[in-house]
Amino acid sequence: MTKNSALDIEMKNTFAKDVLKGLTAKNKHLPSKYFYDDNGSRIFQEIMNMPEYYPTDAEFEILSMQSKQIYEALKFSEPFNIIELGAGDGFKTFKLLEYLVNHNVDVHYIPIDISQEAMDLLSNRLTEKLPSLKIHPKVGDYFEILKGNLESDYPSLLLFLGGNIGNYQEDKAKELLHLFNKSMKVGDKLLIGFDLKKNPIIIHNAYYDAHGITKRFNLNLLIRINRELDADFKIDDFDFYSYYNPTTGNVKSYLVSLRKQTVELKTLNKSIDFDYDELIWTELSKKYAIEEIHNLAKQTDFVLNSNFLDCKHYFADSLWEKMA
Ligand code: AVJ
Repeated sequence: MTKNSALDIEMKNTFAKDVLKGLTAKNKHLPSKYFYDDNGSRIFQEIMNMPEYYPTDAEFEILSMQSKQIYEALKFSEPFNIIELGAGDGFKTFKLLEYLVNHNVDVHYIPIDISQEAMDLLSNRLTEKLPSLKIHPKVGDYFEILKGNLESDYPSLLLFLGGNIGNYQEDKAKELLHLFNKSMKVGDKLLIGFDLKKNPIIIHNAYYDAHGITKRFNLNLLIRINRELDADFKIDDFDFYSYYNPTTGNVKSYLVSLRKQTVELKTLNKSIDFDYDELIWTELSKKYAIEEIHNLAKQTDFVLNSNFLDCKHYFADSLWEKMA
């Protein structure tokens, strides 16, 4: 934990700034990317293991059943790179990598994730299960790593799986996709996961789960602020609420202050007042229609090659190409 200390301090400063900005805004909010400290990444594993959280199973099915089709659609010369942004435990990607290794495809796998713990687990597991795979893990914020460019003579497939794009509001999503585009070479491809619009009850149950795991996932952000910014959030004084709007496709999640209270952020020398029932907006998780995916690709200078859907049509992995 002592290596990268300059980077750690910089990341801590950005965290402090973002938390301060969000909690002093008229409508309080916190960026969902801060869910994923080592604890949060572990709780997210629990979410992915809940039967109600369908995106993981749907995407797992796509990558298990359609790896061949995805590989054939790439039409890449070898060797090529697979660069995964926000790799997490790499559980779904394993199926694609396994197919490639079993068919002697010469591929370099470059997983990127903010959690050191998640990266260590992934590297160890892959080395054990696919010993011939070349792995070059990177720990950091993929925004920053992409800005530093990806330089390689080999063609690259960028993976942005799990529906992470759903966490970005429209303008931010386009900004991110433009950033991907800029860091890619002509002919490089992007496989990007979109959670699709579907029966609202299925979505509701996945995000407002009866086990309280998603609630714990959200409350962990307050625990993180307590730890990293020497704050005194009383976790029991906050609840969690989430709802899906089937017209817009937005799932929005909130922490709810159960009393009028004041929280001290000692590191920042700042106290924050909460009204009874005041909300902190913590997450957007947008669900897409296929037509919206086509529009988004076009608007960010990609050509959509094909959509790979699971059998229930809950989720799409969409393959895009960077054009000249
Ligand atoms: C990891 C961003 C894809 O939005 O579905 C799961 C995170 N939040 N349950 C999602 C999440 C609440 C997840 N992503």
